Amino acid sequence: MATIDWKARAERVSQRLERLAEITDEPGKLTRTLLSPAMVEATRLVDGWMQEAGLQTSTDFIGNLVGRAPDLRQGSISQTPDVERSRGRGTKRRRFLIGSHLDTVRDAGRFDGGLGVVLGIEIADIFRSGFDLPFALMIAGFSDEEGVSFQTAYLGSRAFCGLLRPEDLEVSNREGSLRQLLMDAQARRVVSSAIVRLGRTTAEVPQIEMKAEPEFRLPRGTVYRDQLVGYFEVHIEQGPILEDRNLPVGVVTAIAGQSRFRFNWNGKAAHAGTTPVALRKDALLGAARFALQTEDACSRFPGLVATVGELNVGPNVSNVVPARVTHSLDVRHQEDSVRAAAIAWLCQEADQIAAERKLGLERLLVQETPSVVCDPDFITRLAAAAKSVTGDSFQLPSGAGHDAVVLSQLCPAGMLFVRCRDGLSHHPDEFVEVDDIELALRTAVRFMESFGRQAQKVIGE
Ligand code: GLV
Ligand code: MN
Ligand code: MN
Repeated sequence: MATIDWKARAERVSQRLERLAEITDEPGKLTRTLLSPAMVEATRLVDGWMQEAGLQTSTDFIGNLVGRAPDLRQGSISQTPDVERSRGRGTKRRRFLIGSHLDTVRDAGRFDGGLGVVLGIEIADIFRSGFDLPFALMIAGFSDEEGVSFQTAYLGSRAFCGLLRPEDLEVSNREGSLRQLLMDAQARRVVSSAIVRLGRTTAEVPQIEMKAEPEFRLPRGTVYRDQLVGYFEVHIEQGPILEDRNLPVGVVTAIAGQSRFRFNWNGKAAHAGTTPVALRKDALLGAARFALQTEDACSRFPGLVATVGELNVGPNVSNVVPARVTHSLDVRHQEDSVRAAAIAWLCQEADQIAAERKLGLERLLVQETPSVVCDPDFITRLAAAAKSVTGDSFQLPSGAGHDAVVLSQLCPAGMLFVRCRDGLSHHPDEFVEVDDIELALRTAVRFMESFGRQAQKVIGE
């Protein structure tokens, strides 16, 4: 492989992340959610960077961006996914996927997700001329990992892998269902391609829009099980462990399972000045009591983290006793059985609070994903790569969720964590040093070389 200017490449990754962070749905803070105007713009920007790296790009129905490296031995980049699919297993069409997500939480930092996508593009650029991998690279920027819109994590990667089910489209927020959002996006695509194809003007859009498909049929995924030889994701650690140990990178061993619920508490609106406290059915007090119990659950079940992060109060007026509260509950643990036991305890507590306070209570399990163990061969190879680049091969589990959880259902998956300042994430001050980006890039490339050599033997090409 020709000499690589690692520093310049790391600086480019850092600068691109700054540029990406300027694209937001909320002025003054970084927020990008599924299929939002900022997501569309950010996807377009990253698409351009992928093309500069020699990747052939496309987006799918849910806004996932994918860039395919040419299969050099085919001498062509014109193969479509369908052609790849029809060729099936064991052909030269097998791919190695590197990715992460382009959506963010509300008022986010710029490294969560974006780092893995932009660094992945750099990896593809490095490998496009030089080391011959026995598979073609594919880089993905997933459109919804955080689940801000519908509280459901991994919508992007699930759709990409063909793992979304029709019933998943019924999940909804105050603006409507996922199905509706996807139908609107589909209509916009029909309109814009009609404008291009027919040479129409934007003024004629309403007539064209009428011809958009009235129904939404769930398309199949972009990738399928036998196509992928592996998935690799670089991500900021989002916690304090690497910084505490003075290490730039760490190899991820496993990813915690998580359950996301929606709780609806129903009380009765009443006058805040005249209704004696003993006669009230205050939904917010019930919800608040329950939120405190989540802290108790974390002491009872070591290793558990439980969070009430989103809360809506109705009617939300200062002189009215709260009649309705809807809130989220996020519960995570490395051991699925502990998470299940903690949830059972929390549900019991909630029922008791509701009974004591004469409140109605409904709970909806919005999403559940079991914990995932990273592929042992990936762990070994990543640890060896980290050791050779940084002198250390530290391994740690992830408390956060990642798209690797979904991809691990299709192929071996592994992750590399990069140290972040003060262990801070899901916060605008999230920060990764450019020197650490450089070491992560070196480690990732060393890992890809090692995995490629091994795959060469297995595939025998
Ligand atoms: C994603 O950041 C998650 O772990 O919720
Ligand atoms: Mn993330
Ligand atoms: Mn995140």
